[in-house]
Formats: sequence, C-alpha cells, structure tokens
Amino acid sequence: MTVRPPIAMLAELTHRCPLSCPYCSNPLELARQEQEIDTETWKSVFRQAADLGVLQLHLSGGEPASRRDLVELVQAARDAGLYTNLITSGIGLTERRLKELDEAGLDHVQLSLQGTDAEMADRIGGYRGGFDRKMQVAGWIGAIGFPLTLNAVLHRKNLHQLPRAIEMAVEMGARRIEVATVQFHGWALKNRDTLMPTREQAREADAIVKAARARLKGTLVIDYVPADYHSDYPKRCMGGWGTTGLNVNPEGRVLPCHAAESIPHLVFDNVKDVDLHKIWYEGAAFQAYRGTDWMQEPCKSCDRKTVDFGGCRCQAMAILGDPDATDPVCIKSPHHGALQAQTEAHASAPDGDLVYRKAPGRSIPESVG
Ligand code: SF4
Ligand code: FES
Repeated sequence: MTVRPPIAMLAELTHRCPLSCPYCSNPLELARQEQEIDTETWKSVFRQAADLGVLQLHLSGGEPASRRDLVELVQAARDAGLYTNLITSGIGLTERRLKELDEAGLDHVQLSLQGTDAEMADRIGGYRGGFDRKMQVAGWIGAIGFPLTLNAVLHRKNLHQLPRAIEMAVEMGARRIEVATVQFHGWALKNRDTLMPTREQAREADAIVKAARARLKGTLVIDYVPADYHSDYPKRCMGGWGTTGLNVNPEGRVLPCHAAESIPHLVFDNVKDVDLHKIWYEGAAFQAYRGTDWMQEPCKSCDRKTVDFGGCRCQAMAILGDPDATDPVCIKSPHHGALQAQTEAHASAPDGDLVYRKAPGRSIPESVG
C-alpha cells in the first residue's frame, strides 16, 4: 500500500495526573517524571513531525499541565508550524498560565468532563473540588477566546447526564463536544463490571445524540463514539493502523495507537534513537498491521476490510489475547457471540467499588473514592 504522511500526532507529555479516573486508558505501567523526555527532545520531535507532514499536534497526558515547560513546548510547536490542541482536565491551569499559552500561540483547548455536577465529576475523577475548579478554568478559556471542545467519557454511571453535558457545551460556547463511550483499554479493564453501559443505555445515547445533532446543527458539532461492545461491526480504530496518526509516549517511544504497548510482540522505536520519518515509514510496529496483508479470515476475504481494517488490534489483544484476530465486536468473528454474552454479564453485574487509577505519589481522598 502507499503510505501517506500522518495528519496528526498525539504527544503524551507526561503520565502524571491529578485525577484518578477509573476508565484511564493509559498503560498499567506509568512513566515516572524522571523517565520523561526533556524539553529539547520534544522540540526536536515537533520539528521532525512538521517536516514529516503532520498538521495537528494534540498535547495530552496524563495531565499536560503537569509539565512545567508546557508554554515553551506550545511555542516550539507553533514555531514549527503545527496547529496545537491542548487536551486537559483543567486542573493545574491558572488564568495567568492560560494567557501565557495564548501568547505562545495555542490554537485550541479540549476540556474533559467527568460528570455534569460536582458530585458525579469529583467521584469519577477521584478529585474533590475538581468540578468547581474545572468550571472556573472553563470561564477563563471562554474569556480568552480559545476555541473549545468538551470531551465527555460516558459509562453506566453517568450516561444519564448526556443531555446536560450537551447543554453545558452550548452554554460554554464550545464549538464541538466529543462524546465517547468508555473504551476498555489499560486500567479501564479493571472496572468493566461497574462501567459497562447496558444495551438500553447505549440505544438511548444513540437517540439523544441523533436528536441533538439535528437540533444543534450549525451551533455545535457532536463527535460520537458509540458503545462498540454492543455493536455488530467494529470501529475503524486510528483511522487504520499507520495511516493517519502516531503517538509519542512520555518516554519517547513512538506508537501507532495509544494502547499499542499492550501488544507484546511489537517493538517500538524511540525518538531519542531514530528519526520520526524513518519510524513512520519503516518502523516495525507501524508495518505490523498496516494495510490488509496481515489479516486472517474472516477479515481476509471480507468486503469491509478496507472500511474498518479488521477493527481494533488492541481490543483483539485485550479480549482474545490475539492481536492478529478479527476484532471480536464484529458479527463475523467466531467470538462475537461470546463477547456479547460477556458484555451483557458486565452490564448487569452489581455495581462494585470503582478501582481508581493512582498516579505515583497520589492518594484518593476518602470521601471521594
Ligand atoms: Fe471488518 Fe473483519 Fe468484520 Fe469484515 S470480518 S467487517 S473486515 S472486522
Ligand atoms: Fe490500538 Fe485500537 S487502540 S488499534
């Protein structure tokens, strides 16, 4: 296949994070601060990304505001000609820091929403006072005039708040809301019994999004990731492996997707050793599932194989222990029936205690966790 340059790069600046969300999709083994790549290395990576053809840079984490050099990094990315988007919980951002980010040229902010009121948001994020702080940050973002997207992760506990989340996006003047049903990668797998939405909830969310899209046309764009465990066909994960985007993790390893390190046989190059251009075009991890040659049946002879590229490799790994298998969400997978049964079992399991993600050095306040 012809390999085109990537459009977007996700820079996971750090795994440090003040929140402890139980659906965190970061790997089980988090990078410590002393393992993070330094400012100059990130700057070089941004220049290499721009040379490679990347247009959009998403700065994420963990919480990217935990990096002291965030303003300097944004400035460097803008100097390299990249469109910069900060993906943040808002915690760690002051009005002054946001103004500095504005002066450095930050183009866009994506603010996460754990719930639409303090009780829900603070319980899910495992951070008392987080919601009030976030609302204050949202006010500053609006006053400065950053284009804003709200990010809401939906699951069994908060799906009933979807209509209010959409209203809040409109009230805040956001141009877009990303509504993603929880994906079970990394830490989130520990909370499947408590977070798995029911089939009814998934259907209701589909209907709410459909109605809101019609009602808010021209006001708010709604990007929606439905509950794929309840679907018949898998999602086209990452737009197709090695086709549109790449991730650089806090230690400098370059990944074809956020969860790729869960696939044990893959070997990842590091920006400290290898040029980004070479990694994208020749890196073993990028070649592993690019295109369709790697596929087994039923994908191999399926007419949708260039539509969804066999679904999500990391999901096949997490559920079947085989990253080469057809995503078991697919109705043609021999494991589809078993997955549906498992999903129903998770969705009807009694609520357990949330298992919080604890970043190194963080403890969960008792009244929240
Ligand atoms: Fe997609 Fe493979 Fe299912 Fe066909 S068999 S729809 S290619 S996942
Ligand atoms: Fe890795 Fe889907 S998250 S391929």
